[in-house]
Amino acid sequence: MAVMLTINGQTTPAAPGPSLFDYAERLGVKVPTSCQKQGKCKECLMEIVRGMDRLSPPTPHEEHLKGNFRLSCRCHVVADAGEVRCHTMRRGRMRIESGAIGLPPDDRKMDLDPAVTRDRDRILIDGEEIDRCPGPIHGIAMDLGTTTIVLRLYDLETGRLIADASLENPQRFGGSDVMSRIFYDTHHGGKLLMRTVAGYLTHAIKEFPVDPKTIYEMVVVGNSTMRDLFFRQDVYSIGQNPYRSITEIEMSEGKRTTTSLTDTGRRCLLPIHPRARVYGGPIISGHVGPDAAACMLAIHLSQEDRTVAIMDIGTNTELILGNKDRILAASCPAGPAFEGGAISCGMPGLDGAIEEVGINADGSLRLGVIGDAAPEGICGSGLVELLSELLRTGGMNEMGRFEDGASRITIDPAHNIFFLESDVNELAQAKGANVAGLHTVFNNYGIDFDDVDVFYLAGGFGRHLSIEAARRIGLIPNLSDAKIVQVGNAAIEGAAIALLSKSRRAELEELVKKVEHCRLETHPRFFDFFVDGCQFKPMEATNPIVG
Ligand code: FES
Repeated sequence: MAVMLTINGQTTPAAPGPSLFDYAERLGVKVPTSCQKQGKCKECLMEIVRGMDRLSPPTPHEEHLKGNFRLSCRCHVVADAGEVRCHTMRRGRMRIESGAIGLPPDDRKMDLDPAVTRDRDRILIDGEEIDRCPGPIHGIAMDLGTTTIVLRLYDLETGRLIADASLENPQRFGGSDVMSRIFYDTHHGGKLLMRTVAGYLTHAIKEFPVDPKTIYEMVVVGNSTMRDLFFRQDVYSIGQNPYRSITEIEMSEGKRTTTSLTDTGRRCLLPIHPRARVYGGPIISGHVGPDAAACMLAIHLSQEDRTVAIMDIGTNTELILGNKDRILAASCPAGPAFEGGAISCGMPGLDGAIEEVGINADGSLRLGVIGDAAPEGICGSGLVELLSELLRTGGMNEMGRFEDGASRITIDPAHNIFFLESDVNELAQAKGANVAGLHTVFNNYGIDFDDVDVFYLAGGFGRHLSIEAARRIGLIPNLSDAKIVQVGNAAIEGAAIALLSKSRRAELEELVKKVEHCRLETHPRFFDFFVDGCQFKPMEATNPIVG
């Protein structure tokens, strides 16, 4: 007998002795490492999805890990039968939006005007020489999300996109949402979250097809917590009422003129040019971070006459509503359920993720899998379709209860993929937070959902969502197709614009000053909105709560 060990979807018999890292190597699965299995770099993380009790106990090298995370070089199978399923934090190639789709066309006519320029072999940032190099000059735009990270590499002299990369945020060992990361960072010394993400970014940057030392600037957006962790700021205050970044506090005390941050490549522990500038975009307020600001830049909100909404659904959902005259923004702590987190067979939108689900008349399921690979789990868009189909066929009621008192639905018996009623509860709560955010923001603005001219669905998840399914379960308002634009990753687009254009970066800095922060928790009906939003039913376009 042997334990059946599955790493990143590949299975092998495993016996006591070799580490999970060793087995990964045998399977041809690449594991991030800088210490070659010495237990020092802490990069060889694996999330154990099943069979944690079949592994050796945690070692002192793993004291910093929470939940089902292990260092794969420090653990091995101890049982002689059963199943262990795990995955690295850089599995496969996550689906990525290389270009935002549906953005206003004038975004593409932007003048190339980067802060990094060349005067023969002199490389300058804002006119100050930082290097001498006759070769090309490059820059990186990064969207540092709670769950996923997206990087784009640009040639700063032509504006050409050279490469992109995406990876799961390895900081998940410190918790899946921003509050647990804040708690982790506050209670563990050594800036472990930052150092871990820097290690992963180093591997990703080194895989780009250019000399990393020719990367002279990096623009970072993300929610306030992710940005501040990356820049080694104290994040304690973001987790405490009134939820303000240390940069906001310093700005209110007159110690700084902007909430944006700058540092060097060296201090950010990245393999780019040591004197490269790393710029973290400005925060709007509290948890509404530079990612939301970047979305606004990408859709040209400062010149927008129409009333538009942007919803970027994620672990932290960002909501923006308005036009050039008035802008409201809010952040909803929805949790990771719609990104496949906290769901028994959930996973990110990687190869092997079930992204389409249909229920046939005879009750059988039709599944669409990313990359036409063997199914490994269900990603967010698949979960939305599954919920929608269960509602449509009567397999689940509006309260999220399965018919006939069942607590489990088998999705793919051959690959042991299932869906639990407790998963529905997780999704209901995430949906409730998103819906409550929408109601609160529109209510504060004083308009119905149907009063918007454009409803942008941003982010990788929003891009691949079935609009019909999202409307049926009430994840988005019941607006006509003509008003809904699946815009893709507008945050990375905004970061790229800020990288390639000094004037647009200045616009970004000005834009955040115009935004009113809508604090959801202070609205007297927030809890009612949340409870209503936990039900799976359409959200009427005429907002009944206005007035
Ligand atoms: S390989 Fe470095 S800690 Fe495991």
